[in-house]
Amino acid sequence: MTDEELKEKIKEVLGEMGVWSGHREMTIDEIATIQPGLARIMPEVGQRTWKLYYAAKESHWELANFQWKEITELMELGAFTRPKHEEALHQFLAEDWPALGKAIKDKDFAAFEAAFHHAIEQANAYHELKEKPYIRWQLPNQPPPDLDLKPRGKK
Ligand code: HEM
Repeated sequence: MTDEELKEKIKEVLGEMGVWSGHREMTIDEIATIQPGLARIMPEVGQRTWKLYYAAKESHWELANFQWKEITELMELGAFTRPKHEEALHQFLAEDWPALGKAIKDKDFAAFEAAFHHAIEQANAYHELKEKPYIRWQLPNQPPPDLDLKPRGKK
């Protein structure tokens, strides 16, 4: 058996090896299969984008920065689990996302708002490019009800 064949055999055996999840036994291949793709990641991106906007509007820059970073990480996760979207996600993160990060750092809502609307236009252009023209994210008119978006102590 060559080294290459041995490697393949080990991969095959490991992939089929059962591990206990606490609820049932799963093989490593099954665990890999259930890692989240964009259908599971993007709705969370949408929720956090909503929070991001209204946190910035309330000058709650710490929370805005947190949401901005979490969205970045979710997109990195999507780029990893779905390589076919890696290039587009990285392009968005490189070209359209940094201006929001800078506006948050500068605590500049006017700059944030312009960069935000531009990034959303771009995101929806990517949805079209990815053959999902029916997915157009829009900013809700109201702030999300589940988080206090004002910095602590601010009425
Ligand atoms: C801040 C920017 C973005 C927001 C707010 C956003 C929001 C969303 C939302 C809410 C959905 C799910 C719609 C639903 O099923 O209810 C979605 C789906 C999707 N988005 Fe985004 N998106 C953004 C950026 C991007 C970018 C840069 C890409 C580039 C690859 C992308 C690719 C996709 C794809 C492929 C789906 C369909 C996933 C599926 O169900 O298979 N999105 N997006």
